[in-house]
Formats: sequence, structure tokens, C-alpha cells
Amino acid sequence: MGKRVYESLPDMAKARNRVDKPNLIKDEAKVSLRLASFAAGRHYLIKTFGCQANVRDEEIMAGYLEKAGFSKAESEESTDLVIINTCAVRENAEDKVYGEIGKFKANRRRDPQFILCVCGCMMQEEGVAKKISDSYPYVNLIFGTHNTHRLLDMLDEHLSRHKDIVNVLSHPGDIIEGMPSARLDNSSAYVNITYGCDKFCTYCIVPYTRGRERSRQKEDILSECRELVEQGYKQITLLGQNVNSYGKDFHDGTSFATILEEVAKLGIPRLRFMTSHPWDFSDEMLEVIAKYPNIMKCIHLPVQSGSTEVLKKMGRRYTREEYLDLVARIKKKIPGVFLTTDIIVGFPNETLEQFEETLSICEEVRYSSAFTFIYSPRKGTPAAKMKDDVPDEEKKARFMRLLKVVEETTNEASASLLGKTIPVLVDGPSKKDPNILSGYSEGSKLVNFPGPAYLKGEIVELKIIENHCHYLVGELLEDPILIKANGVKKALLEEPDVKEYLRLNKQIEENEEIKALQEKIGETQKKLVASLGDAKVKAEYESLREKLDSHPLIQNRESLREGVENLLKAVSGGLS
Ligand code: SAH
Ligand code: SF4
Ligand code: F3S
Repeated sequence: MGKRVYESLPDMAKARNRVDKPNLIKDEAKVSLRLASFAAGRHYLIKTFGCQANVRDEEIMAGYLEKAGFSKAESEESTDLVIINTCAVRENAEDKVYGEIGKFKANRRRDPQFILCVCGCMMQEEGVAKKISDSYPYVNLIFGTHNTHRLLDMLDEHLSRHKDIVNVLSHPGDIIEGMPSARLDNSSAYVNITYGCDKFCTYCIVPYTRGRERSRQKEDILSECRELVEQGYKQITLLGQNVNSYGKDFHDGTSFATILEEVAKLGIPRLRFMTSHPWDFSDEMLEVIAKYPNIMKCIHLPVQSGSTEVLKKMGRRYTREEYLDLVARIKKKIPGVFLTTDIIVGFPNETLEQFEETLSICEEVRYSSAFTFIYSPRKGTPAAKMKDDVPDEEKKARFMRLLKVVEETTNEASASLLGKTIPVLVDGPSKKDPNILSGYSEGSKLVNFPGPAYLKGEIVELKIIENHCHYLVGELLEDPILIKANGVKKALLEEPDVKEYLRLNKQIEENEEIKALQEKIGETQKKLVASLGDAKVKAEYESLREKLDSHPLIQNRESLREGVENLLKAVSGGLS
């Protein structure tokens, strides 16, 4: 390829901007002829690092690529286009990316038309896009989190101008609707409800990489969720860096509790949300979580530190006491709730006493699991400028002490399920053994059990027989064939065409006009037999039949017959 074009590079000062309003953009995902003919017969691969926001971006980028005509590649060797979707939250997440970029040099050597793209949160950091562009000349496209929806245009530009492109924007971030999506799973789905973050915790890069906090319109969220329910999805996770803030930017009283309740009412079997910031967790939210059985009683409530002084320096906006008070309110309203958390060890100048307050808060709350991190300075954030007198060795030692406490409470929560029979949503065969399936309990505990692969996507009742702290072992109580048959029946009854067919059938059974016609047809049929096929009676019989067949209710039902029959054929096609 020819020279590289720098269309835009990130600017962290601009990324702090919270003044400009986000635009609501309806994307049409147009595919140029040039790109469509390039994509035909070619394959793509997306490698994602980081959080669920990036996973959802991967699905959206995959949606765009498939719209253009690319199909998903089976392996790294057989792919014609690669996107490396990066995370900037800690240094070790970044280190992995450089190795990953290096891996694809061989693909370029084999195929001069191979396309390598690097995108995501890391690109939003000052200096990174330039460094990648200088050190890895075979990278063709570098873009950030604000222009993922322009992927096809950027690919087309790359092809038409024969240029490699760097285009990373730093602005408050827009809301894009109408984006295509190729979901990675057909039973669990992520749905974005807010983008960005305005909290600016002093250690965190996310507000700079993802832009201002902005909420999607309620109707857009509901129609995405409705579609997932209709497609038979079993679980929806509502996503946002801080879901509790949902709707605040509308200034019309809309709150997270309202959207949570409306999604719960759509009837999805399992509803989750993440992440909740402890600062604006409302009582209204608690009421809704407690009220709906399909909202999982499992709340991720990042504490970060147990010390009020450290929390203050982190800019977390709550004290140890306020956090504990919230935990007490949650436990009172939702007995048996599973609480999970994120913790940072070794924030600049954290004292031993302050660290021990983190240990004691864990002992008090008794998290059912926790993500633990050693503080990683992020350039451009306020904490990165703080003097830090805690040696690395000391941070590691504290981290190990924390792991022990977290392990103890994780084990305790897992042990509480021993001997119980609990519902588990089957994720699929385990990575190590294809005869073992894994899934998640309502409290997000990993459960392994022997069973056939066709149970993927079903919610099964398992008796928990072993506890291994980070996972449990269960056994099926029912015949898997019957579980699947039941699952298929339920899914079939949820299909819009089948639902309509059954509704019309009921109306037909109850319709007086149709009942009278059917009676008359019966009588005329008897008359026809008695008259040995008299022509007049036959004509009367046929006209009555025609009247019945042309009744609008019957016609409507018959118009659905072929579709419903095809659905039945598809499900009886096997337990694949
Ligand atoms: N919005 C979410 C978290 C997003 S980042 C929230 O507020 O809970 C996920 C986790 O990464 C954070 O909860 C925090 O524990 C951790 N993290 C963020 N920045 C970090 C840093 N600079 N060093 C170490 N861990 C960090
Ligand atoms: Fe980062 Fe804090 Fe925002 Fe979470 S709430 S994304 S930790 S700034
Ligand atoms: Fe990482 Fe970006 Fe998520 S920095 S944690 S991928 S928002």
C-alpha cells in the first residue's frame, strides 16, 4: 500500500469535553460496489480485548462486515481481514495487543491484499495510534471508538485510494442507531443502554476513551430487546459503564428503574445489568429488582477500596460507610442476593491500614466473586500524576493477601449451593471436555455437568453435588431429551406466526357464524349421502364449503399454514 493518511489523531484534552451535545445518527450501513466485490468470498476475524462494551462493538463490526459480504473465518491463517479491538484500562491489557499485531505480519507476507485493522479504546490514547502506525507499517486501518460505524466507508476509502488510514476522533460521542449486528451467541445477548462515562474516577481512562455519558432512547432499547425475546433469547444483559445513570440526560424523570422494569416485562427469562456504580443506586431500582423474578438477584457493585480516604482520592463519591449502608439495604430487600465487585490494590500512596480496610470490607460484605487488580497508572488521568510511594513488591504482597480473603468468600457463596437444585443457563460444551457442559446459575456461578451438547441455550435444573470454589459440579435431574423437547415446544409457541395461528384457531372455534356454517355443512353432507349425490344438494354443499373457506378468519389462518409447517419441519430436523 502507499503512504499513510492521518485523517485525525486523538486529543485527551478534547476527550474531556462534556459541553457539546451528542447527535442521534441513524445509520444506513451502505456498501459500495467496490467493497462488495472485494468482500465476496473473503473472510474476517475480530480479536477483542477488554470489557462487554468491546464485545458488543465486535458484534456490530461483524454485522457491518457480513453486510458487505465477508464471512467469518475459521482460523487466523485462513482470514483475509483482521480487526484487533483493543482495551486501555490497564497496562497488561495493552501489552497483549502489540504481540497480537505482530502475529499477522505473516498473513500480509502471504497475501498483499490482506487487511489489518486496529481499533478500540487504546487508539483513543494520545500517542498510541502514531506508535502503532510507525512500528507496524503493515497495519492498514487505525480507528477509535467513535467511528466504528464508519468501518465500511473507511475500508472503501482504503481500497479506492490505495492508502492506509489513521482516523481516531476525540469528541463527546454520538448515539448511532440502525447498526447491523452479528451476535456471538444465540441465547445470551448484550444490549447497550448507555455509552461513555462522566464519573472521571481519577485512575480510569474510560471517560477519555468512550466519551460522555449518553443514554439510548427508550424505544430503541425496547425494540432491540423485543426482537431478542421473539428470537428466543434466554438472557439479556443491559450494558453501560454506569447503568444507574440511564436517562438522567433526558431530564424528564426517566430512570434506570423505568427501563429495567419495561425490559423485565417483555418476558425475557433472565435479565441482568452491568455495571452499577454505588453512588447513584436508587431505592426505586431495588424495588424493581426485588419485584421481577426474571431479574437475576446478582448485583455487580464495584467497591474499588474499603478506605474512605482512598475512595476520596479515587473520586468515587461514596464513603466506606455509605457503601456498607447500601449493601445492607440491598441485602434486606433481596435476601440471598449475590454481590460481586471490582477492587484496585495499591492506588498511589495507599497505606497498609487503608489496604486492610479493603480486606475488612470484603470480609464484611462477603462477595460471591471479585475481580481484583493492581493499580496501573494511565497516562492523562489525574492519578497518574500522583506521587506513589508504595513499592511494586508491596503491592503484589497486598494483592496476594486480598486474593485469599476473596477466595474464602467466593468459596462460601459456592458452598451455599451444595445439595440444592438450581436453574442453570447452559453456555455450551466446556473448553476442556466436549462431554461436559458449562453454564451459569442465577447468581453467576459457573456450573459444569455431564450432558449432551444440544442442551446449549436451555435453562436446566441441576442438583449441585461438588464445590470447587470457582466452579461447581452439578447433575441433571431430568432426561435431556425431554428438557430439549420442552424447550423446543416453548420456543415454538413463542414464534410470532405460531402465536398468531393459535390465536386465529381459537377465534375460529368461538365464531358463531363459522359454527353455524359448519353445522349446515354437516346436515347438507348427510342429505347428499341420502340423496345418492343429487346435483342440487351437491351444489348447495359446495357453495357452503366455499363460503366457509373464504371466511376471513379461515383465510388468515391458512395463509400462515405453510410458514408454521416449515417451522415444525425445521425443529423436527434433529437435535443438532
Ligand atoms: N464502569 C465500571 C468499570 C469499568 S473498568 C465501574 O465503574 O465499575 C473495570 C474495572 O477496572 C474497574 O472497576 C476498576 O476496578 C478497574 N480499573 C480501572 N482503571 C484501572 C487502573 N488504572 N488500574 C487498575 N484497575 C483499573
Ligand atoms: Fe471508570 Fe469510574 Fe467511569 Fe467506571 S465509573 S468507567 S471506573 S470512570
Ligand atoms: Fe477496556 Fe474500553 Fe472497556 S478501556 S474496559 S474496552 S471501555
